[in-house]
Amino acid sequence: MKNLETRLGRAVFRNPVFGASGCTGHGYELAPWTDLSRFGAVSLKTFTAEPRPGNRPERVAEVPAGVLNSIGLQNPGKDAFFAQVMPRVLEALDGDQVIVSVGGNTVEDYVALGREVEARFGGQIAALEINAACPNVAHGAGYFSREPQAAHDLVQAVRSAVSLPVFVKFNTNFENYLETAAAIEAGGADALYTTNTPLGMKIDWKTRRPALGNGRGPICGPAIRPIGVLRTWELYRRVKLPLIASGGIRTWEDALEYMLAGASAVGVGSAQFANPDAAHAVLDGLEAYCFGLEEPWTALIGAAHRA
Ligand SMILES: Cc1cc2nc3c(=O)[nH]c(=O)nc-3n(C[C@H](O)[C@H](O)[C@H](O)COP(=O)(O)O)c2cc1C
Repeated sequence: MKNLETRLGRAVFRNPVFGASGCTGHGYELAPWTDLSRFGAVSLKTFTAEPRPGNRPERVAEVPAGVLNSIGLQNPGKDAFFAQVMPRVLEALDGDQVIVSVGGNTVEDYVALGREVEARFGGQIAALEINAACPNVAHGAGYFSREPQAAHDLVQAVRSAVSLPVFVKFNTNFENYLETAAAIEAGGADALYTTNTPLGMKIDWKTRRPALGNGRGPICGPAIRPIGVLRTWELYRRVKLPLIASGGIRTWEDALEYMLAGASAVGVGSAQFANPDAAHAVLDGLEAYCFGLEEPWTALIGAAHRA
């Protein structure tokens, strides 16, 4: 068996195939259908300090080659997350598989949540994920993703407040996303998630209304894979941070494409809705492919840039 370990900053994972946030639940929900030990990691559903009911229904709509969603960060809030969700997570997954994802409106929100996660679970989890795609109370949607200085200050503040590895997921839909990525790197992040999903809309011709209650929502699935591959490619050229790529991964060849573009790990997202075992099919295929390689599998990371 080939060693498929991957290093993301200060964290090392058993393999590079992760369950993407919001599409893998908290891991334990998938236990009846898949072998949880095979996940390189699970990025847990993002949670916030206060419970959030999420957006009004409908929240998911199928489109050709993907799915629109508008969940609105529905989550039970930190108290329930710590007391009810985390014990089940730590029972189902090994600590080195657990990435805890926090969301907030201000730098102080992220710092406070980061500190609390570390105080409660610091020795038991692999990394803290900052979901920097959340809106900011004063400056609105995408603030921490469209303002490089804000992104820098957010990451730096969390990084100096916790000793856990810090991963950052930001919204790459802004023209200056490479500048923001460089600012996140300068702020001290350990790894960066690529591909925050572009917005889309579906209109139901029978009701003559938008299919999503919120009107618009990000599109996930194979439709966005070429966008994700391009962003991974460009980010790989711009920053030295290890990249965790997601967006439309269905097969091991899709995952490999992202790795050749520069990803050190990949997140399998909505493919799991149709097949809860999808991440393992991806891992099986990668293992078989890498078995035949003479060099370590990590030689694949960014190989298309050197070809
Ligand atoms: C229903 C749903 C909920 C999601 N919730 C989150 C979330 O809470 N936090 C987050 O960072 N990403 C969230 N995402 C984005 C996914 O992690 C992933 O980046 C995206 O789905 C693209 O991957 P895919 O094309 O393989 O689905 C969500 C996606 C979907 C479809």
